[in-house]
Amino acid sequence: MTAAIETENLTKDFPVGFWRPRPYRALDNLTLQVEAGEVFGLLGPNGAGKSTTLKLLMQLLYPTRGTARILGRPVGDVSVRQRLGFLAENPYYYDYLTAEELLSYFAKLFGYRGDDVPTRVTRVLDEAGLGAERRMRLRQFSKGMLQRVALAQALINDPEVVFLDEPMSGLDPLGRKQVRDLILRLRARGCTVFFCSHILSDAEALCSRVAIMAQGKMVASGKLVEILAFELKGWELVVANVTGEARAELDKRARQVTPLADGRFMVDLPPTADPARLMHELSGRGIELVSLNPVRDTLEDYFVQTVAAAAPRQTGGV
Ligand SMILES: Nc1ncnc2c1ncn2[C@@H]1O[C@H](COP(=O)(O)OP(=O)(O)O)[C@@H](O)[C@H]1O
Ligand SMILES: [Mg+2]
Repeated sequence: MTAAIETENLTKDFPVGFWRPRPYRALDNLTLQVEAGEVFGLLGPNGAGKSTTLKLLMQLLYPTRGTARILGRPVGDVSVRQRLGFLAENPYYYDYLTAEELLSYFAKLFGYRGDDVPTRVTRVLDEAGLGAERRMRLRQFSKGMLQRVALAQALINDPEVVFLDEPMSGLDPLGRKQVRDLILRLRARGCTVFFCSHILSDAEALCSRVAIMAQGKMVASGKLVEILAFELKGWELVVANVTGEARAELDKRARQVTPLADGRFMVDLPPTADPARLMHELSGRGIELVSLNPVRDTLEDYFVQTVAAAAPRQTGGV
């Protein structure tokens, strides 16, 4: 099976400095493959090179070195562009058009005519979660509403591959959930989704595979379950009704006991602890169990470790 997206040693240098421009490497030898139908997350902190990668894939920039192919064809191939959708990081549209007018315009750019245009426009606006506001001018839109228009625009041509740069940015919790659900619906339809994000919980909920970038380089890639060691780090126990005697017992067993509000305590137990047995023993002393959670490595922990471990960037760049 050919990959939906593949890059090989993709590299981008920007000239920086006025009098003596020096090359600044924003993307360094990125090689990756995304299979058809995958939801792939390109993750990394600000300045890691995520947007640069997307712009190279969309041919908004040209690479210094390396190649990229989408749906088996070199990027920029006109027959392929028709089959792609793209949400830019900072979309900018004509302020005086309504959302409906803007999307009709994009539909026509893709060559749709007649009744097909309003049907498509209504469908993508529904999908992006825009209600009656669709008849308002874009200059009256909030950032979150504009983000939804931009998402609708990325879907107007029923794309086979969608590129989304920070799709959740500017959205409130409900909006984030709607976009997550939308990405899952796209996946269910067999669409390949390639998205960039610095928000790890989005990736954890959506991606089959991720690549983690730092300072222009890919520092890890693969399935989340493979990247993250899902080994148990300990237990987090929250208890109430702790008497003096029980408190002494907890202190003996725990790595740390932290008082919380309302007379509760958070108890940090080592992975070797047997929390069920401990609770059984302590319940005789009147302690109440509020919650018990295993503590594992999260993508957030991993991210902090990997990105911190990457070599510090040379000074003198952007
Ligand atoms: N046009 C440009 N000229 C010079 N430097 C740029 C340009 N575009 C991006 N960069 C630099 O390249 C690096 C990667 O940027 P970008 O791909 O936007 O990061 P991300 O999307 O991961 O936050 C940053 O250090 C940024 O300042
Ligand atoms: Mg970016």
